[in-house]
Amino acid sequence: MKIMVVGGGGREHAIIKKIKENKSVTEIFALPGNGGMAKDATLVDIGAKEIDKIVEFAVTNAIDYAVVAPDDPLVLGCVDALEAKGIPCFGPRANAAIIEGSKVFSKNLMKKYGIPTAEYEVFNDMQAALAYLETAPVPTVIKADGLALGKGVIIAQTREEAKAAVVSMMQDKAFGSSGDNIVIEEFLTGPEVSVLAFTDGKTVAPMVSSMDHKRAGDNDTGLNTGGMGTIAPNPYYTASVAAECMEKIFLPTINAMNNEGRTFKGCLYFGLMITPKGPKVIEYNCRFGDPETQVVLPLLESDLLTVMMAVTEGRLGELEVKFSNKSAACVIMASAGYPQSYEKGFELTIPAEIENNVYVAGAVLKDSKLLTNGGRVLGVTAVEENLKSAVESSYSLVKKIHFDNAFYRSDIGAKALAVLED
Ligand code: AMP
Ligand code: GLY
Repeated sequence: MKIMVVGGGGREHAIIKKIKENKSVTEIFALPGNGGMAKDATLVDIGAKEIDKIVEFAVTNAIDYAVVAPDDPLVLGCVDALEAKGIPCFGPRANAAIIEGSKVFSKNLMKKYGIPTAEYEVFNDMQAALAYLETAPVPTVIKADGLALGKGVIIAQTREEAKAAVVSMMQDKAFGSSGDNIVIEEFLTGPEVSVLAFTDGKTVAPMVSSMDHKRAGDNDTGLNTGGMGTIAPNPYYTASVAAECMEKIFLPTINAMNNEGRTFKGCLYFGLMITPKGPKVIEYNCRFGDPETQVVLPLLESDLLTVMMAVTEGRLGELEVKFSNKSAACVIMASAGYPQSYEKGFELTIPAEIENNVYVAGAVLKDSKLLTNGGRVLGVTAVEENLKSAVESSYSLVKKIHFDNAFYRSDIGAKALAVLED
């Protein structure tokens, strides 16, 4: 089988490595992929948002199955366009990807169907939003409606900060048209848990839970990033929390989407907060998380391609999706300065014996040398019997990888280990 994976980061590298385990796979194309995955896939110089070119490539190369991994192409209708040419895909159609593409849509969906989430108001008028903030409780959370490269959420500690956020989104268009509508919502507290779930619109198969580390610095200091490391499973996601989530969040969400005529097929990502009043949805993503995928898929014991195809064909209920009882930790190595400005073009060396543990996010091949080419350069994952060993192994692998100006957090997993030791 010829497989095509749309996207080019560490998440896509993890998906590609797992799909490769299926014996019927003859070739995997990555559009655009990155130089660090050249040993695992054929790189194709087509960007993830170039829908017409993606479809043309798939048709010309007789692709048997496509995986569309990032949010942008999903929201832009990449799956719809591929399916129109008869190419089976993993990923939701545009009318379901809106669950991530519009925060106003997802908040209204949760309200309509009684799915637990923060209280909120929607505004399309800046003056009305500013007037509301005069009396709104703080801290408060301001969210741009549309996709904003993960930056469209501002936690405002004071009314002044909240107003500044509203002006930057609605007047200064900090996130372009994504800020035409905004959501102002209640500030929730509690540990966060990421749960990715396979769903074909009938069955929901949650994957092992995980914990992201979003801030750039140790002890959750510094700027928000795309994610500096992950661990799985997340110790806050106990069996009773999982049961509650299935009953009050996962199944109601799938049913709500069906009821709206927007059946969701693919990987639905539930960003949850375990509040004193129970689990609530912070956000939905219409795709695998990055870097959650880099700890979740290494723990998957079932064959990924088989599960994906069952999702596409609406047969997920016939399978048992199995995960290992082990633990995984992924440490992201980034370029110093990320998430702001950083230098790139430094030579990257990954010893051959640890290549299996490395998911490359930002690198380019030049004259057969691998050079850094992004803020987040790579993730190093270790799977062990318990979380403590996984974290230790991951850090010992990190020390074997070299590039100038590398930086990484030194406390990935520390919070989770403290919970386990309690
Ligand atoms: P993202 O949408 O991935 O940029 O993440 C936004 C982050 O902001 C989440 O991971 C939470 O940590 C935080 N957040 C979002 N909404 C709320 C909320 N209502 N209350 C508290 N924290 C929030
Ligand atoms: N790690 C968070 C995300 O993928 O959105």
